[in-house]
Amino acid sequence: MAAEGECWSQTPEVRRLFPTFVWKAQLRPEVYEPLNALILGRLEAMRRERPPLQQGETWQSKHGLHGLPEFRSLVSCIHTAAEGVLEFLRIGSSELRITGCWANVSAPGGGHRTHTHPNNFLSGVYYVQVQADADTVNFHDPRGQAAIIRPPVTELTAYNTDQVVVEIGTGTLLVFPAWLPHSVDANRSENPRISVSFNIMFASFAETMGEPLWGEK
Ligand SMILES: [Fe+2]
Repeated sequence: MAAEGECWSQTPEVRRLFPTFVWKAQLRPEVYEPLNALILGRLEAMRRERPPLQQGETWQSKHGLHGLPEFRSLVSCIHTAAEGVLEFLRIGSSELRITGCWANVSAPGGGHRTHTHPNNFLSGVYYVQVQADADTVNFHDPRGQAAIIRPPVTELTAYNTDQVVVEIGTGTLLVFPAWLPHSVDANRSENPRISVSFNIMFASFAETMGEPLWGEK
C-alpha cells in the first residue's frame, strides 16, 4: 500500500456538509434575574392549587405563556435570538411568530424523552432554574441512516457521535431547528429544574413562502 505522501498532492480536505446549528446565548444578569423572579412567581401562582411534584414527575404549563406580562422581556430576547438565526442562515427579512411557549418543571428524577417540534421552523428553550446535575440538554443525530452501521470508535468526535450534550445555565437561551431531536436526562439534582420552551414559525408562511420554489404561476 502506498504511503500517504505518495498518493496525495496535498493533505486531503474534510468538508463539512449540511451542519446543524444550535444557537446558544446567555442573557445578562440584569435581564435574567428580574425576569426569572417574575417567571417563578407566575409559575408558583399557576401551581398553587396543585399537589407538589413527586420524584420523577415533570409538569408542563399551557402553551400561551408568551402572552403574559411576566414573559415580556423573554419574548423580546427570543425574537432577537430568532432574528439573529435568520441572519446567520441568510434568510431575508421575514416576520416571525411565537406559536407556543410553555414552562417545564421537572422534580428530581424527571426528564424528557427524545422528541421534535413539528410544524414550526425554530424551537428553543430558556433556562429559568438549573443547577449542577440538571444542567445539560441532549441533541440527537437527525440522520436516521447514519445509525445503520456504527463501528466502535477510539474517540468520540463531531463526525462519529450520535448525540451532542450541550451544557446550559440559568439565563441560557437556546434556539435550534424545530426538526432536531432532543431530550433531557433525568434531573439528578435535589431541586426542580425549570425551563421555558417555545416554538417559532414564519408569520405568514402560506402567503409568502408556501409557493413552489420554481416560481410557477
Ligand atoms: Fe423540546
